[in-house]
This record gives sequence, structure tokens and C-alpha cells, in this order.
Amino acid sequence: MIIAANLKTNLTRKQTKEYVENIESFLIENNNSQEVLVFPTASSLNEHSGKVTIGVQNAYATQNGAFTGELGTDHLDEFAIKTILIGHSERRHVLGESQEELVKKFNFYKELGFKIVYCIGEPLEVREAGNDTMMEYISAQYEGIDAEYDNLIIAYEPVWAIGTGLTPTLEDIEAIHKDLKKKSPAPLLYGGSVKVTNAADVLALKSVDGVLVGSASLYVEHFCAMCEYAQNIENKN
Ligand code: 13P
Repeated sequence: MIIAANLKTNLTRKQTKEYVENIESFLIENNNSQEVLVFPTASSLNEHSGKVTIGVQNAYATQNGAFTGELGTDHLDEFAIKTILIGHSERRHVLGESQEELVKKFNFYKELGFKIVYCIGEPLEVREAGNDTMMEYISAQYEGIDAEYDNLIIAYEPVWAIGTGLTPTLEDIEAIHKDLKKKSPAPLLYGGSVKVTNAADVLALKSVDGVLVGSASLYVEHFCAMCEYAQNIENKN
């Protein structure tokens, strides 16, 4: 399974280094073979080799150039980063990235063979409008995206579940994931208020291939516990 930590705008460079080292030791000591991805803040990126893969939360579709505040592939190459998060709800809704911009970014990084974690998910008013409206909204987030790309991971993160402590019921997650699985063969993660207390149940769902964790991932022991849950589930199967 895939266990991913989106650290957002948290942890300094020094804290991130320690964080990644702690996870790395945990995985080695416990013989944990799960795919673990960590997305630090841009200024905390660093080269890392081992079981943990470091990805970037965002980058621009460029090698370099005049794009104030953005990173290009020159900056990712410096740390051998080949994994990127695209379409996170905070980039869509807080930073205002359009589907068109995301598609451009997706295609650029796909051409370079990056592992892309592509995020989708609906806001509360869309969910409340019913299942058809919700699936229509989510389908639009697949527009222009190569859902068959072999280095793609999809993360379903309902916007209303992010950072709120609210989650869909396990039945709802399973039902939505089942529908989403028809759209793409890519591994499908669930994200949105995944905590150490609910991760084992979410991970145990058949249509869930892993989790993308925000706030709870900041507690390294909690994040490691989630890696352990995933390993236990895999060992049982
Ligand atoms: P929380 O786990 O804090 O709800 O955030 C989820 C998220 O946005 C991961 O990308």
C-alpha cells in the first residue's frame, strides 16, 4: 500500500530531516515494505535515498525562468526529486489553480516520467447536491488528465474532510472509490482527516490502496503507526 504524508506548510528543514530519518529507521527496523511518500515544504526539500521517497508539493511546468515564487525542474533535479503532488484542493481552491493549469502541469511532469499523485475531491455543497452532481464534478477533474499514465497515483480527498476531523463513512469511501476505480487503473488513496484512530479501518477497505495524510502525519509516531497498519493488512492477505 501507499502511505503518504503531505506536510503542507509545516516543519523546518531541520525538523523535516529528522522526521524523514525517523520514518526511515522505523521502516527498516520493522521490515516494513509499504511505499512511503513524504511531501515536505519546498524550502525543506533534501536529497534522500532509502525506503522513503521525497516528493514536491508543487512545482511549475518549467525547467527554470521568470516565474516568481515557483520551482522548476532544475530545483527538483538538485535533490533528485521525481515525485510531485498535483491538484491538491488547497492549490485548486486557496491558490486558485484551474483545471487547465493543472493539465499543463500534469502533462509536463508526465513527459518527464515523474510519479504524479493527482488529487481530486468535491466541496461540501457539491456533495450535498447528491451523488450524480458529485460524480459529475469529480469527473471534470479527470478532464485532460491521462488516467492510464503508468506512474500515476490518484488521491480522493473530499474538500470538506480536509483538516476538519470529518470523514465520509467507511461505506461512502468504499462506494466512491469503487466508482472512481472505473475511471483509472491507478492506485487510489483516500485523504481527508485520516488519523491514527481511523487509518486502520480506512486502509482495510478493499478499494483503498493507501492514504494521503495531512495534519496527523506531523506526529511521526502516528504516521509510522499507519505504515504498520498497512503492513499488517498486507501480511494478512
Ligand atoms: P488532513 O489530514 O489534515 O485532513 O489533510 C489531508 C490532506 O490535505 C492531505 O493532502
